[in-house]
Amino acid sequence: MKKNATPAWLEDAVFYEIYPQSFYDSNGDGIGDLLGILQKLDYIQSLGVNALWLNPCFESPFQDAGYDVSDYYKIAPRYGTNEDAKRLFDEARRRGIRVLLDLVPGHTSIEHAWFKASCLPGRNEYTDWFVWTDSGWKWEVPGMRVVSGYADRDGSYITNFFYFQPALNYGFAHPEEAWQQPVDAPGPQRVRQELRNIMKFWLDLGCSGFRVDMAGSLVKKDWRSRETAALWREMRAWFDKEYPDAVLISEWGYPTTSIGEAGFHMDFTLPFAMPGYTSLLRKDSGPDAARDPYAFPFFDRGGRGNILEFLDDYLFHYRNTVGKGLICLITGNHDINPRLNRGRTPAELELIYLFFLTMPGAPFIYYGDEIGMRTLNGLPSKEGGFNRTGSRTPMQWSQDPNAGFSSAPAEELYLPVDPAADRPTVAAEESDPASLLNRVRALIALRKQHPALCATGEFEVVYAESGRLPFVFKRSQDGESILVAVNPAERPAEVLLPAGTLSGTPQTLYGVVGALARQGEGWKLVLPGVSGGVYSI
Ligand code: GLC
Ligand code: CA
Repeated sequence: MKKNATPAWLEDAVFYEIYPQSFYDSNGDGIGDLLGILQKLDYIQSLGVNALWLNPCFESPFQDAGYDVSDYYKIAPRYGTNEDAKRLFDEARRRGIRVLLDLVPGHTSIEHAWFKASCLPGRNEYTDWFVWTDSGWKWEVPGMRVVSGYADRDGSYITNFFYFQPALNYGFAHPEEAWQQPVDAPGPQRVRQELRNIMKFWLDLGCSGFRVDMAGSLVKKDWRSRETAALWREMRAWFDKEYPDAVLISEWGYPTTSIGEAGFHMDFTLPFAMPGYTSLLRKDSGPDAARDPYAFPFFDRGGRGNILEFLDDYLFHYRNTVGKGLICLITGNHDINPRLNRGRTPAELELIYLFFLTMPGAPFIYYGDEIGMRTLNGLPSKEGGFNRTGSRTPMQWSQDPNAGFSSAPAEELYLPVDPAADRPTVAAEESDPASLLNRVRALIALRKQHPALCATGEFEVVYAESGRLPFVFKRSQDGESILVAVNPAERPAEVLLPAGTLSGTPQTLYGVVGALARQGEGWKLVLPGVSGGVYSI
């Protein structure tokens, strides 16, 4: 029997999320593309990451940056061709890097041929592929968003997100009206089969799995997610049999359900669903901050955060999923404003990475976060981005025009490049051994060298107290034990650890040297302001 429920390659996996339109433009048309990613594989490999998640790159009218697919079997011409995708899969794989695509199973674009056929008044093959009410005069359905008057068909359609993203029909958990079909009706079953066909197509071409968009949204009126979970368990069983090395990652944000019940290999810590993640680094301190004990994130220079806010949430999900799948801490993603670096010093960012890269699960780094790229606020919305747009700007490679992203005239770029004189770039950080980029590389390398730091190495809280610092935890696996300590505050932090915490003399693997000293029977741990350490014990 396999030790873990997840493929072995996930053990030391570190993922890198690439927003393809903003990574590297290989042909000078102002927009990033697949060959651009291919040309940057040396850089990607140099980070030490071994898996990529590409945001959607399928044919689309791009009203929501590609989350509105019009052909699931075709790479969007602006990104290249299916052959380019295959080249990228193969070349990345040769370097030990797996490529995952973004699967949008819940909705298509209104431009998709299936939806156009479904809009027609006469019955056809696609009539039941989308969720339609039985009358064009239906304005409202409780708990769902309805679009009326769009088609000649006498019905209104249900949309999952923006109006142009009609919901594919996976059926209703508890149908209450005739137009609400059960999950085993012919339409929903055809859609489910098609979903499998799409995955098979790309897996056979060489991709290694999918990040699944809005994975929990498929079956309607599925309040406890039972039917949606059953659908994904079916897909997982099929993966285990046919593609045992490939993985499914849900955009769900509730690992207890997504991993524990729906059978996903992994799920993300998403700010809208996991308050514990928000409490780590994404809180905004409002005007009443001084009187509000919950106003500050844990990674706060003032040391005013509380690690228990994170742990209460995280440990609940961790205990429910340990041995089954991985919780993925993310530095950010294409939906999150601000990026990780909002007014943080390099030392603060390094400490956050030290924490992220020593925790269990599979960490995700959003492109540019490894050099400390910043969000560009105030940009006009691009392709349905709204406030997300500023976290999607071009990767900053060098001091060349357009930060080396593209040779197109600046005004023709997909999005403008950060104009700040002190914007971080890969080139500048490459040549500085103390740069964030090189620290991130070193921490990734450390993670990969130590089984205890890998995805399923045991995790144990050693010291975590409300209003106190540092936060100390232990990771162990195969007889190796590692202690990690972090102090996000500017003031020093110390704690006395009981004798049994360490078995021998600690070795510093990273960070503050000499932080641990014998005191009586136990060990005294002292960390200067904004610092941390990783110790073999
Ligand atoms: C997910 C994507 C987001 C997209 C939405 C609709 O949340 O991450 O970018 O707009 O789904 O597909
Ligand atoms: Ca291009």
